[in-house]
Amino acid sequence: MKAPVVAPSLLSADFSDMRSGLSLIAASGADWIHFDVMDGRFVPNLTFGPKMAADLRPHTDLPLDVHLMTVEPEWLARDFIKAGADLVTFHIEACVHAQRLAESIRAAGAKSGVAIVPSTPVSAIEEMLPYVDLVLVMTVNPGFGGQSLIPSCLAKASRIARMREETGLDFAISVDGGINRSTIGAAAGAGVDVVVMGSAFFSSADPKAEVDAARAALAGRGRD
Ligand code: DX5
Ligand code: ZN
Repeated sequence: MKAPVVAPSLLSADFSDMRSGLSLIAASGADWIHFDVMDGRFVPNLTFGPKMAADLRPHTDLPLDVHLMTVEPEWLARDFIKAGADLVTFHIEACVHAQRLAESIRAAGAKSGVAIVPSTPVSAIEEMLPYVDLVLVMTVNPGFGGQSLIPSCLAKASRIARMREETGLDFAISVDGGINRSTIGAAAGAGVDVVVMGSAFFSSADPKAEVDAARAALAGRGRD
């Protein structure tokens, strides 16, 4: 079983003070920094680019988990790896030559991830499973923090967990969107290893308690 990972998202941090956002994540004992990159085309919102990642990189030792919600992710993937990303996840819906991109991310020294939006079936990424270190299942339609989790997406995460068992592959499974105290139990039940948490973390009076609760729920998840 993989160690549970809690990845707070800087999307919900104060953009005028990102270093404090990083410090809050480090102080909470969370595992990864989730870095949501939006281009105003793949999703109807804009966030930040490789320079933000490069500027933040020296201020944290935690892995930088870059989630590209962009068209033509090939270009930005390269720049984010140069900026210090540890893991680069792109959307299958945005990329025709996904296998080549996943391999090139690994060749550049980062871990590769592939993501699916709620309307994309699991079958769309089946052929990609041997080439990725992470499968990210969006549990909301990407673009904004603070949305409600779509329960049918968790069924996709459990199907992916079953495929992992059947194939003996070793990728991690992440869920992203609407994860909070009331949904974490169901996410853990789906057998995921990584949970992204934006608004639930940054709006909490005690972010460390959110991380501890998520980790405790994941520790009891159904996989070994
Ligand atoms: C949504 C982003 C998520 C977002 C999650 O498009 O990919 O990572 O930050 O935020 P919450 O946890 O508020 O749904
Ligand atoms: Zn994300």
